[in-house]
Amino acid sequence: MRKSRVHRMVLATCLGSLILVIFYFQSSLNPAAEDRILRISWPGKSGRSPLHTLYKGDQFEQSSLQATHQHRRELLSNMCHRYTRKRRLLTSDDLRHLVVDDVHGLLYCYVPKVACTNWKRVMMVLTGQGKYQDPLEIPAHEAHVPSNLHVLSEYSTPEINYRLRNYLKFIFVREPLERLVSAYRNKFTRSYNTAFHKRYGTKIIRRHRQDPSNEALERGHDVRFEEFVYYLLDPKTQREEPFNEHWERVHSLCHPCIVHYDIIGKYETLVDDANYILQLVGADAGIKFPSSSKTTRTNNNLTAKFFKNISPFYQKRLFNLYKMDYLLFNYTIPSYLHLR
Ligand SMILES: *[C@@H]1O[C@H](CO)[C@@H](O)[C@H](O)[C@H]1NC(C)=O
Ligand SMILES: *[C@@H]1O[C@H](CO)[C@@H](O)[C@H](O)[C@H]1NC(C)=O
Repeated sequence: MRKSRVHRMVLATCLGSLILVIFYFQSSLNPAAEDRILRISWPGKSGRSPLHTLYKGDQFEQSSLQATHQHRRELLSNMCHRYTRKRRLLTSDDLRHLVVDDVHGLLYCYVPKVACTNWKRVMMVLTGQGKYQDPLEIPAHEAHVPSNLHVLSEYSTPEINYRLRNYLKFIFVREPLERLVSAYRNKFTRSYNTAFHKRYGTKIIRRHRQDPSNEALERGHDVRFEEFVYYLLDPKTQREEPFNEHWERVHSLCHPCIVHYDIIGKYETLVDDANYILQLVGADAGIKFPSSSKTTRTNNNLTAKFFKNISPFYQKRLFNLYKMDYLLFNYTIPSYLHLR
């Protein structure tokens, strides 16, 4: 046990210092890999891998859903081409958000505040070898225990390359500023989130509030949205450490211009996109993506309200901070922003 942990640590250290050379193509499987995949029997009904079903499948007609996803892939690829500099290579550190399902051949890049708890629950059902039936029987906090799921950075370089080439890679994205407001509400306006208040709230108040009370300095419990915005835009913030994953840009969490995602799911079409993936996986009909019944969900109107108090100067800078996510995932500039 201890030996294997040491082994893994050594491996992780080696990987961290290595650059992974990853050349693969997503839209057509290379013939050798295809042969290999065809010989494996996958658990889905067709016995095919989800990747194979997506690109070579014939049991689905060319549905509008398929066309939509193809357009999203093309748009992403065009935008990457236009807006990113020369392709850089992946490091193992870049792969910490890619959750692996070796049973079905899936890689899911999780983005907090985009149905990520429910996707992790579904991944636990898929990889649990029968341990769970219904995603909702898994408590939310269990879904975030790191040891319950494997991420791609834990694997060796050849194993990583193999999975990047042969597994179906998917991601879920959301309107960037709506995601940001959702993160703010969840982490700074709920009294139970004391860890975030201590870790980030106290710093934000110390730096971005004039005449803070001793209680606010001590507890960090009442960060205002505009103070959070000042924190995000302060050059010092990212010089000190990377953004927390709840407000880090999808572009930086999941590297969509290097990892070629096969399915770009959107929060705005969550149910359809989730069912499409489960259908490709051939998951037992029993697995249903949990539907949210929350009525307090952050939507466009609520997001607009939060931006009423932010001056055009800061709106513009904040938009620029998240601009890549707008461009890559085809979100339009919100009408409530004053960018001129
Ligand atoms: C991009 O967004 C626009 C406006 O919402 C939409 O009309 C268009 O179909 C989208 N394109 C793709 C490829 O999704
Ligand atoms: C947002 O606000 C507009 C106008 O105030 C209203 O018509 C619309 O129904 C609201 N949308 C949601 C999702 O609440």
